[in-house]
Amino acid sequence: MTRKFTIAVGSDHAGPLLKAELMVFLESEGHAVLDLGCPVGTERVDYPLIAKAAVEKVASGEASFGILVCGTGIGMAMVANKTPGIRAANCHTEFSARMARAHNDCNVLALGARVLGPSLALAIAKAFLETGFEGGRHAERLALFS
Ligand code: RB5
Repeated sequence: MTRKFTIAVGSDHAGPLLKAELMVFLESEGHAVLDLGCPVGTERVDYPLIAKAAVEKVASGEASFGILVCGTGIGMAMVANKTPGIRAANCHTEFSARMARAHNDCNVLALGARVLGPSLALAIAKAFLETGFEGGRHAERLALFS
């Protein structure tokens, strides 16, 4: 059985519909969700503000993982990776999501709402959450990050 997590989610104006679908999916899988915005219908919100609010929940330990959505996933990942302790990856495939967890102990998944259809986005999130970090040589490499 997949472990249950608390997951901080956030999107800018490009992603609230996908975020809403993700939230339904995550809760249906038994995870707890912290929603850092933005709501559906938001005209404009700057992704760095949402990314920082969400990854703070991960960095503090309040959430185990973050899932961030913007148009491409690129900006969210860039901002997330500036916070110490955050390892964010912008994933377009289930394989990359599994590898981000298994080899990089990734704790923030960034998704592009203008890149991925919702079914693929949910499958990527599922793959991400059900994969554990392998440790060993990969942990040694993480220790070389800083
Ligand atoms: C917003 O138009 C867009 O720039 C943003 O969602 C994101 O794709 C940035 O990386």
